[in-house]
Amino acid sequence: MANMFSMKQIYLNGQFLPPQEAAISVFDRGFVFGDGVYEVIPVFGKRLFRLPHHLARLQISLAAIRLSNPLSEREWGDMLTRLIAAESANDQSVYLQVTRGVAPRDHAFPPDTKPTVFAYAQPLTYPSNEQLAQGVSAITIPDNRWHRCDIKSIALLANALLRQEAIDANAAEAILVRDGCVTEGAASNIFMVRGGHLVTPPKGPGILAGITRDLVLELARAHGISCAEDTIREPELERAEEIWMTSSTKEIMPITRLNRKPVGEGRPGKLHGRLLALYREYKQDFCAGRVE
Ligand code: PDD
Repeated sequence: MANMFSMKQIYLNGQFLPPQEAAISVFDRGFVFGDGVYEVIPVFGKRLFRLPHHLARLQISLAAIRLSNPLSEREWGDMLTRLIAAESANDQSVYLQVTRGVAPRDHAFPPDTKPTVFAYAQPLTYPSNEQLAQGVSAITIPDNRWHRCDIKSIALLANALLRQEAIDANAAEAILVRDGCVTEGAASNIFMVRGGHLVTPPKGPGILAGITRDLVLELARAHGISCAEDTIREPELERAEEIWMTSSTKEIMPITRLNRKPVGEGRPGKLHGRLLALYREYKQDFCAGRVE
């Protein structure tokens, strides 16, 4: 059991513990109902990247499931910083989750239950240079998830089934389609390039408001790259010059095969190279303390 976990310690309800010593009740509503929310935050040069954005999104998720935030912004920052300091890697990813806590099984909310707070940091595994140079494959699959995908819920069974369907088809990601329009990936946001113009689906209950997505749009706008938050219909995606997926752990990953056919020329496109360079430059500035 101990070997399964590389991290030195985890945080659970106010305590820092070796992972093999951490335990929660089988009656935790996170375990029984998937009643909780989470965040994944990248760490570059031992600094939490876009922490205020992640904490703001956590607050939105908590409010949406009617849980009050168990920690202040400062307490989150201090606790996560302590987890990061205990790990040797400079670049890490932090996972944190808050569940409604332990109570007898009943769908209705228990009165006065203390939320369960769990977090850990681990080294960030980047996409390989080969993946970045060649891009990855994706398939389109009907989006059969619920209608509150803007909540970063720990109940990820639908996402896990969709991702597995993609893996079984030798693809890296499932691009989800609802009512003929692209929503997002099973664990990423989706961008497409058409006529040199960058497009990503608009925010709403159908997608998670990705922090990486927002940064890509911010960088594109700051550098005069034409971009829009607009509906992408499936046939448009099939004709795209470039397709990318974005997430805190995948960064900006080119998708060069869609449903077994090449996207554009079948290799990462020019605009991808430009945005990835801008993203990396921004990361360097962040590590050097030039941007927050
Ligand atoms: N997932 N959409 C979904 C459904 C996601 O699960 C994720 C990220 C994103 C991208 O969001 P961000 O850029 O803030 O990471 C979009 C994380 C990484 C995960 O579940 O591991």
